[in-house]
Amino acid sequence: MSRTVIVLAAGKGKRMRSALPKVMHELLGRPLLGHVLTAAAPLDPAQTVVVVGHGSELVTEYLGSAFPGAVTALQEVQGGTGHAARTGLDALKDVKGTVVVLAGDTPLLRAETVSALVEAHEAAGAAATVLTAEVADPTGLGRILRAADGAVTGIVEERDASPEQRQIREINSGVLAFDADALREMLGKLTADNDQAEEYLTDVVGLLVAAGRPVGAHVAADATDTLGCNDREQLSDLRYLLRDRVNRAHMREGVTMIDPASAWIDVTVTLEPDVTIEPGVILRGSTSVAAGALVGPDTTLQNVSVGAGAKVIRAHAIDAEIGPRAQVGPFAYLRPETVLHERAKVGTFVETKKTSVGPGAKIPHLTYAGDATIGADANIGAATIFVNYDGVRKHHTTIGEAAFIGCNTNLIAPVEVGDGAYVAAGSTVEKFVPPGALAVERSQQRNIEGWVERKRQGTKSYDAAVKAKKANEASAPE
Ligand code: UD1
Ligand code: CA
Repeated sequence: MSRTVIVLAAGKGKRMRSALPKVMHELLGRPLLGHVLTAAAPLDPAQTVVVVGHGSELVTEYLGSAFPGAVTALQEVQGGTGHAARTGLDALKDVKGTVVVLAGDTPLLRAETVSALVEAHEAAGAAATVLTAEVADPTGLGRILRAADGAVTGIVEERDASPEQRQIREINSGVLAFDADALREMLGKLTADNDQAEEYLTDVVGLLVAAGRPVGAHVAADATDTLGCNDREQLSDLRYLLRDRVNRAHMREGVTMIDPASAWIDVTVTLEPDVTIEPGVILRGSTSVAAGALVGPDTTLQNVSVGAGAKVIRAHAIDAEIGPRAQVGPFAYLRPETVLHERAKVGTFVETKKTSVGPGAKIPHLTYAGDATIGADANIGAATIFVNYDGVRKHHTTIGEAAFIGCNTNLIAPVEVGDGAYVAAGSTVEKFVPPGALAVERSQQRNIEGWVERKRQGTKSYDAAVKAKKANEASAPE
């Protein structure tokens, strides 16, 4: 059967108190709207239309990049969910078969739940089937009305409901499946005769029942699927629920999580079996972690690939590659275009940017490396600064294979240190160092004997110096 998806996303979401349209608020790596469209995608719809209004430019731009198959229909005035559905339907041609209407603000909806609704609807040959849920607190939601025999007779909004109807705990999820012709016919008959003076999509159900058409309800297996988002508190509640779902799915696939409540993993992230996630980890975007790697504690990775067996500890990394068995941290910052090849190490208080660290090369401590290529097995001493910026332009530094950079070195780019070359500690290097050479750039050491005894009398240094001299004299050969 041909299927069409209509997503209602024109509302402002006043209660969010936000400049951003509600459906664009983010939940673990995807806007609310993206979650809904992802849940609907397995229906394999012939056409998908998103009804946009508030913030339509932003929503349209997002759809263009994330769901290019979807078209938009502009609802200029928000005249209610029924008016919105008609706006969506009118924007499409040749709509036949099943039309599934979803709200853009129910991001926990799972594909299997939408599919179960649509299959039940199509199997029953119904004119309309509403996805419902039994909830403990139905406040603010539409209630499902049923006859004594259990047949659905309509949906009533809370503000239009009688006190008895408000006792009903079976609610309208906002997801409904319709026969296209039945929907079109009844959308034309909607009135705004209700407390909000809006055209309610839910009234289509009552109109179909009155016309003697078959109408059904499908109760969601898990009521959390139907939760909507109307304010930031609900957004946070949904995020907790989604986090638990995501983390449990990873654990079922073989990931160890020491403290899943503190692991915030985007739905777009991939983790292989035998990955260990320590407490306090945030994984975002296209991040992937290969088998046996350890991430955390207290680590944020955004669009980072972590190779098998790597260890990434107390680190912050963006748009970077961490190779197999590489080590990062504790306390490291990898900025965009950092590439660590296998077994490379970026240690404590090290910042890298646009830098390739060769296989087995090490930057263990207190270093800034920017715009650099570091050869295999090179060793970068503590407090080395890659001086890449002259105030106007960035320049490149190349460090050869198995080169050794002594501590507290400045490498003034553009510069190259050859394969197997050494740079003495404390040097400022601005000229090519040939392979195998030792570069030394520092002044000779000068000792002024007896300076402390003359200039620092009465200090602890003076006492220590005098004591050491006496001991030396006592032990000196006759
Ligand atoms: C709606 C349902 C209610 C259900 C609840 C589930 C109606 C009349 N009520 O109520 O039965 O329990 O969802 O969450 O359908 N929208 C538009 N254009 C409009 C109005 C709304 O695009 O003119 C969009 C909104 O952006 C939103 C969705 O439709 O994504 C639902 O609208 P909302 O105002 O949140 O409806 P509820 O009052 O929550
Ligand atoms: Ca809502």
